[in-house]
Amino acid sequence: MDYETPQFFRVMQYAARADRDVVDMVSGNPDWDPPEGLRDGLRDYAEAEPTEFQYPPSVGLRELREEIAARRDVAVERVIVTNGAGEANHLAMTGGLDHFDGDEVLLADPVYPYYAGRANFLGATTRFVPVDDDGRLDPAAVRAAASEETSVLVVNSPNNPTGAVYDADAMAEFAAIAEANDALLVSDEVYDHFDYSGRFGSALEADSPNVVATNSFSKSLAITGFRVGYAVFPPEGGPNGDLLERARTRHMLTNVAGSRPAQCAVSRALKTTSPEYYADCRRRLERRIDRFCGALDEAGAEFNRPDGGFYVMARFPDFPGSFENVYELIDEAGVGGMPGEAFGDSRADWIRFALVTPRVDEAAERLADFFG
Ligand SMILES: Cc1ncc(COP(=O)(O)O)c(C=O)c1O
Repeated sequence: MDYETPQFFRVMQYAARADRDVVDMVSGNPDWDPPEGLRDGLRDYAEAEPTEFQYPPSVGLRELREEIAARRDVAVERVIVTNGAGEANHLAMTGGLDHFDGDEVLLADPVYPYYAGRANFLGATTRFVPVDDDGRLDPAAVRAAASEETSVLVVNSPNNPTGAVYDADAMAEFAAIAEANDALLVSDEVYDHFDYSGRFGSALEADSPNVVATNSFSKSLAITGFRVGYAVFPPEGGPNGDLLERARTRHMLTNVAGSRPAQCAVSRALKTTSPEYYADCRRRLERRIDRFCGALDEAGAEFNRPDGGFYVMARFPDFPGSFENVYELIDEAGVGGMPGEAFGDSRADWIRFALVTPRVDEAAERLADFFG
């Protein structure tokens, strides 16, 4: 698989050019409103003094970092605000590859393709651990695959694309595997607010110097266009403490700083948004998951009902998840999904559907008709 060329846009462009109405279930852009506090923060920013239109601290606005640190129960110095989780993952992975001896990145298969693409362009080798039938990584399989060659292990929970959620015990095991192999666990937790199982555990709970947790507000506040994320690095005074300074420097050399208006608005939203906002978002998605999985059943598909996140992977009888078949589904059924082969070998026969569209019911009917 060529992970260096992102494939999402290829399918989105095909769907956009189609000669018919298509329900877009390709991209992971939330279709609901951000919290009101976010819009308030933006409105107020427009009237701020010119001094507030200048560079923020490179590591991020202090009040935003403090809010993040309090939520994650870590010292504020460990938090770097980044240009989305994308940059947070980049800083963590490059830092791990530089700091630790091996040159291998251990990834799940299926994989969020940007991790593999990044490992490739950084010149690292990649090793993939296939998930179990239920879409989950078995810590024992990860332990067996890890070696002194491994310098970075990336885990994503709730998972894109399988919907798996790992609890604190599984996370502690992944952290222990990183420690035992002198490697870094990068735990991408961008979908942490979308846990329907109640089991989600953050890797930070393992309290390990071999963990970097990455996250962002792209999904939890429905603002993928704002580009505000963060990484929590191990404390500077402890083992692997140099990862933090390395990341600060790289972040500054690449970006100078992040976007100040976006950080101000996120900061306001965090202070003013009630837990009910996040609970509403979860309920909306759970309703969609119910309906969509019901239709998959009717269509005779195999699937894992997601424990978290936005995505459902499904395998239809005699219809592997190749690009050709996904294009056929766009043209003939009017539903756009992502080919499983874009995520690796183990789910190459599957198709991933993103439930971030109000038209989930319609898509479900179309699929049931097409395969029925
Ligand atoms: C697992 C995962 N990590 C990171 C990202 C990118 O997040 P951000 O928009 O914060 O860069 C995505 C986006 O879909 C994702 O699915």
